[in-house]
Amino acid sequence: MTILITGANGQVGRELQALSADFPTLKLIAVDRSVLDVSNAEAITDFFNTTDFDVCINCAAYTAVDKAEQEKELAYAINAEAPGHLAAACLTKGAQLIHYSSDYVYHNQENRPLLETDATTPHGVYAQSKLEGDLRVLTAHPGALVFRTSWVYSSFGHNFVKTMLRLGADRDLLRIVNDQIGSPTYARDIARMTLELIQSGQAAQHSGIFNYSNEGVCSWYDFAQAIFELSGVQCKVEAIPSTEYPTPAARPHYSVLDKGKFKAAFGVDIPYWRDSLQDCLNLLA
Ligand SMILES: NC(=O)c1ccc[n+]([C@@H]2O[C@H](COP(=O)([O-])OP(=O)(O)OC[C@H]3O[C@@H](n4cnc5c(N)ncnc54)[C@H](OP(=O)(O)O)[C@@H]3O)[C@@H](O)[C@H]2O)c1
Repeated sequence: MTILITGANGQVGRELQALSADFPTLKLIAVDRSVLDVSNAEAITDFFNTTDFDVCINCAAYTAVDKAEQEKELAYAINAEAPGHLAAACLTKGAQLIHYSSDYVYHNQENRPLLETDATTPHGVYAQSKLEGDLRVLTAHPGALVFRTSWVYSSFGHNFVKTMLRLGADRDLLRIVNDQIGSPTYARDIARMTLELIQSGQAAQHSGIFNYSNEGVCSWYDFAQAIFELSGVQCKVEAIPSTEYPTPAARPHYSVLDKGKFKAAFGVDIPYWRDSLQDCLNLLA
């Protein structure tokens, strides 16, 4: 089976490629923005007309949550319009589309793990553009799969884990918010899960929205503490409220994803966030 990966230079895109040796029956065609700019609908059509594949995994996204407030048009082009174009092109080709989305699309007032059927009241351009992307994908290609995930990190790219390690090496104390609760997700886990579902044929049998994050729950403060504890970095962490760390785009206070639908459909084990964090830190060490 041949898999096209778009936005292949991001965290999830690079993890998919790093895992390719574990999935010898899957042939990966990985393209970054320089080969296929997904915000160019004509380029998608041209590329799809000349390349054969069975599944497209769309890893391309505009992920600069705060900068998106200043770059609304660009964020919408990449997060909303492009997934819609990819979905339509996949349907025409008879290919499956697997797309990733965000916990930020929910941002409702619930204080319990969030269901795929919950209200979506996204705050800010990034979250709103991601929700619009989900809707366009499922409208254009009813057979598409959308995985909503949260707090993604990897040994590749830029993320909270690498920022903490860099800052923790230079400073004695970091002040981190403790009133935003969620679940970190190791990009390698979501990448492995995606390839397993394709290889087993399960991806082709399902469609619609599924939440996926690592198991367990923490605040950003707990996450930072764990990063330092598990990597042996001597840096104190002080818990602060979000009001002391204002950001241009508001973040949800409670953003834990309920993964019951995913588990019932696919029966795949989901790693605990601290175990996955340890795996990533081992790679980085
Ligand atoms: N990161 C998180 O914390 C997080 C949380 C929840 C959900 N998600 C979702 O998970 C998915 C994967 O995220 P990630 O962390 O892997 O993102 P990432 O590391 O920011 O990677 C996104 C990739 O998309 C590429 N890209 C941007 N515009 C493009 C375009 N027009 N054409 C082709 N490629 C383009 C970027 O290329 P350049 O490097 O050239 O910009 C980058 O390589 C995304 O859908 C994201 O919204 C992420």
